[in-house]
Amino acid sequence: PRMPAPKNEPSRDFVPGSPESRSVSAAIENIRANPREIPHVVNGERIMTADTTRVVEPHAHRSVIGTMAVADETVTKKAIAASLAAAHEWSRTPWWERAAIMLRAGDLAAGKYRDELVAATMTGQSKTFHQSEIDAASEFADFMRYNAHLAQQIYADQPASLPGDINILDQRPLEGFVLAITPFNFTAIGVNLPTTPALMGNTVVWKPAEKAALAAEVTMRVLEEAGLAPGVINLVHGSGAAVSSTAIADPDFAGLTFTGSTAVFRSLWRAVGNNIDTYRSFPRLVGETGGKNAVLVHPTADIDAVRTALVRSAFEYQGQKCSAASRAYIARSVWNKLRDELVDIVRELPVGDPTKHETYVGAVIDRTAADRLQAAFDRANTLDTHERLVGGKTDTATGWFVDPTIYTTTDPTAFTLSEEFFGPLLTVYVYEDSEWDTVLREVDRASGYALTLSVFASDRRAISKALDALRNTAGMTYVNDKPTGALMGQVSFGGGRASGTNDRTGSRLALQRWISPRFIKESL
Ligand code: SER
Repeated sequence: PRMPAPKNEPSRDFVPGSPESRSVSAAIENIRANPREIPHVVNGERIMTADTTRVVEPHAHRSVIGTMAVADETVTKKAIAASLAAAHEWSRTPWWERAAIMLRAGDLAAGKYRDELVAATMTGQSKTFHQSEIDAASEFADFMRYNAHLAQQIYADQPASLPGDINILDQRPLEGFVLAITPFNFTAIGVNLPTTPALMGNTVVWKPAEKAALAAEVTMRVLEEAGLAPGVINLVHGSGAAVSSTAIADPDFAGLTFTGSTAVFRSLWRAVGNNIDTYRSFPRLVGETGGKNAVLVHPTADIDAVRTALVRSAFEYQGQKCSAASRAYIARSVWNKLRDELVDIVRELPVGDPTKHETYVGAVIDRTAADRLQAAFDRANTLDTHERLVGGKTDTATGWFVDPTIYTTTDPTAFTLSEEFFGPLLTVYVYEDSEWDTVLREVDRASGYALTLSVFASDRRAISKALDALRNTAGMTYVNDKPTGALMGQVSFGGGRASGTNDRTGSRLALQRWISPRFIKESL
């Protein structure tokens, strides 16, 4: 069987009043009018545990849109047991049948469930029409389709045999269960992390971010309708620490796929280390963590392109993409021409309810996020190395709103150039035009993260120098483009240093982490 060669799922425009705008708005009204129960789904069974928590809209925190079950040890153990019970049959299901289920899920996300997924992501995660569409519809479908295509290549890759022999690579899944812990910021990452190991024949315990519970609930229905057998992916909601401590203590824990903060990934890695004597096999640990992504601007850069890239990559989705730009190094001659217009644009960016068409910047995900940004503003305001150009305020009366904010700093070692805040805060460091070599060193040294990077220049030698000097500074380097918006099929996604294990979502490597091949040689 051959999988169809994928194409990226196109995104809709959402002109106000268009049929797609009306139907997504109706889906949003439906969510608001009918707050739903968000249960665990274990072996296909929906379970509400005694402990629950309310799910609210981040931009309207009095609007309750769901009641989410919170996992305890019992339900987590049940999810592990269900995964282990389903493992034998699923691992022997032909890969093309597993792939067909994922392809059907992609079609359902792009079709029947499209508006529901987009609406759940807008209300639950505070995304605008456009940001939600590129995530919950397009990238969701893309992950399902490209992964199926990549899986076909992996399974087709067989060793040579001499006459008289037959050599086979049996691409076995891992023995045990995989734990998937997914972030709030992308519904598509929510589906990609558990389905990638499942596509390769593993069974999974999936713990989505509490703030993405609504989208996860819809995602689970999509997977079930696509034909996923009970027990293959078991969804448990609640605290990551509670679920992971039970899962990581289990001798059948076979691997972790995680997207989230560097600190949490390190603590999970430590917990695995502490249990290392007890596992059947060495667990696979895959993590995509933080970023402190730089936009580096040479004196020969195209100023219009830089302006657009900064606005989009620092402020779309409130800067809550791991790929978002949060530091910019700009040559003085460019900055002199760019500054006023950039500040004016950012001051005018409409902040508010993302379900309204005019909004560009919604709310950050929760109070903790708003407080973290406010603390960064307060700290920067006390430093005479920092100047606030625009923004710098939070307003949490009705939603977790944080102004799109730009500071400049004269200190290349400033905390605003090294720490991740995961919000709409951009810090600009202006360097002298002649100091390209020095600024390359500063970009590399300022932060311990290494996820995305943009270099804007038209001078070929400057680009070459940057690509060499910044070889380990990022897992994705964009030349004359913004650092966000990786498209499946073109960009494989991952980072090094404190940004993760660089297992390249969108490449074969991401799938190969979830198999443990067996070689068979038969002499005829
Ligand atoms: N895939 C997203 C981007 O490239 C971030 O995770 O922006």
